[in-house]
Amino acid sequence: HALGADPAARPGPADPLNLREFQAAAKSTVDPVYYDYLAGGAWDEVTLRDNEAAFGRLSLLPRVLRGHEKRELDVSLFGCPASSPVLISPTAFHRLVHPEGERATARAAAATGTIMVVSMAATVAVGDIAAAAREAAPEGGPALWFQLYLQPDREVTEALVARATAAGARALVVTVDSPVFGTHERDRRNGFLDLPAGMACENMRGLPGGEPDAVRPIAMSPRICWADVDWLRRSTSLPVLLKGVVHPEDARLALRHGVDGLVLSNHGGRQLDTVPATIDLLPDIVAAVGGRIPVILDGGVRRGTDVVKALALGASAVGIGRPVLWGLAVDGERGVRRVLDLLRDEVDTALALCGAASPRDLTPDLVRGRP
Ligand code: FNR
Repeated sequence: HALGADPAARPGPADPLNLREFQAAAKSTVDPVYYDYLAGGAWDEVTLRDNEAAFGRLSLLPRVLRGHEKRELDVSLFGCPASSPVLISPTAFHRLVHPEGERATARAAAATGTIMVVSMAATVAVGDIAAAAREAAPEGGPALWFQLYLQPDREVTEALVARATAAGARALVVTVDSPVFGTHERDRRNGFLDLPAGMACENMRGLPGGEPDAVRPIAMSPRICWADVDWLRRSTSLPVLLKGVVHPEDARLALRHGVDGLVLSNHGGRQLDTVPATIDLLPDIVAAVGGRIPVILDGGVRRGTDVVKALALGASAVGIGRPVLWGLAVDGERGVRRVLDLLRDEVDTALALCGAASPRDLTPDLVRGRP
């Protein structure tokens, strides 16, 4: 035996040790058509690949002998406490990979103290997701935020916001990188165009202007503009974040329009292909915002070191999209919890190895571009 090697203590193949092993496990269990939907990106998938690759091009330059006892990973975002600087980015259709869908994800979020951004395209209604989260964490419950695409019909947007607010959502995340749907050739090849029978975008059920039980399709509209953001800003007291701003000039415009936060995202490479990796865009967006509002980054975050790099370069937190779906596919609520716990442990260890006691100790000098 090698030092300490105990076959009984060795994790089995069903126990992924990291997020990439969860991806492999998910790939072997999920219907290949659905797996392609989760995994895929737009056109040549350049941005999809680059999100992960760009983290690999950066190195960490740790500090030593800093004399910390232990790490403090908690953060607070818009008054919402979170047990780590990693939140759940909004992804559609959780019931595609697990029968309990978003309910299981929400329970895992609640159990781990993670902020969950609920997608407008969820396959469980936001009120039912919130109820599942409350059951899992009765003391105060977790923070749910609600992601939406501004609908061309303001009455519909208003009704969606009212539903999210009634469910207890603590912030609105408006996704602005989708004037039209990106082209996913994997889905075209597979003929994956619609949800299977018995699944629907439950947040769209019975909205104004339709039959009470009809599910309205989600509209993407190139007509949406800053005036619509102004209108939303006026019509809710919740914090409003914009997700999908990548141009520094748009970050400055967001400030002028009273936006409360940005999610720096290229939609996981699913909208415009060849947009730079989000980690490469981060310094310019952070500079444009000048510390006035939080910047949350998502895209390609797979390791604790990725989280540390993003925080060091000025992100307030990061989001993960696909890894949550892999956890959900592999083992429902437990799988999502495991994904969140694994990443949190990695962040904790990476902080310690960087000589940092908390995300606040991470500074841009710890990150080097690899020559
Ligand atoms: C998404 N994403 C997304 N974004 C959004 O604003 N509303 C949505 O409904 C969805 N749906 C969705 C479905 C699937 C299957 C994926 C993979 C992604 C984008 C998501 O919020 C996030 O930006 C990316 O997933 C982050 O990249 P990673 O972590 O998946 O690399």
